[in-house]
Amino acid sequence: MNNSENYPGEVFADTADFDSGIRALVPHYDEMLHALVQAVPADSRQILELGCGTGELTVKILQHCPNAQVYAVDYSSRMLQFARHKLEHLGLVGRVSWIEADFGNWAESGLFAGVESPLDACISSLAIHHLRDELKFKLFERIHDRLHQDGCFWNADPVLPEAEALAAVYEEARNGWIREQPIALEEIRAKMNRGTTHGHSSHDHLAPLSMHLDFLSKAQFSTVDILWKYYGFAVFGGYRS
Ligand SMILES: C[S@@+](CC[C@H](N)C(=O)[O-])C[C@H]1O[C@@H](n2cnc3c(N)ncnc32)[C@H](O)[C@@H]1O
Repeated sequence: MNNSENYPGEVFADTADFDSGIRALVPHYDEMLHALVQAVPADSRQILELGCGTGELTVKILQHCPNAQVYAVDYSSRMLQFARHKLEHLGLVGRVSWIEADFGNWAESGLFAGVESPLDACISSLAIHHLRDELKFKLFERIHDRLHQDGCFWNADPVLPEAEALAAVYEEARNGWIREQPIALEEIRAKMNRGTTHGHSSHDHLAPLSMHLDFLSKAQFSTVDILWKYYGFAVFGGYRS
């Protein structure tokens, strides 16, 4: 499915290239998602996923939480369609409600039709960093408000180093990973098409991990924690209470 007007976060011109391409670009992608999923209680029933993309995290969470229904949100109909086919093939599609929406709108105005709350969990991977910082904070507040008393929010996202001196270290760690891949970076780049702006998202608005943790605490999350980190990628979040 080719389209010259990709949205931020779609990453590849052809959605079919996403699953292999993202694994080449993001170090330990599967391990990162695994760490996130493990933190969600297996008896969770209502789960909101923001920026589901091709459904890789969706599949993992449904397998981890056998009684869960997932509200999978993405603003890209291409991504939602691809994810839906994947989950149909895996026999999991009946446990997902697909919502084509911009989660930045939810952060702004709180209008998000079709999601029943309170939620047991909210999860997201590689998506929220497309929002500017002030909206990230508002989104964390919205998520907190829609969670069950003991509900949790876990997010896997790229983060900036805490000090400029570490920027080269982070970059080299990522480049080292990419060099080890069976596909050359030039070949991956040729398949990429990074959208600049759509709705509330733009290419990348990275922030240091400490800022995310601060936002979570200010949004009233308790037990804020970092579950996993590999240089510029981290899984972090917390519990409502
Ligand atoms: C890099 S992909 C990650 C997909 C998936 N979570 C994963 O880890 O493989 C980011 C996804 O977030 C979606 N996205 C980005 N900004 C969004 C927004 N403001 N509202 C809804 N979806 C958004 C993109 O369309 C894309 O599918």
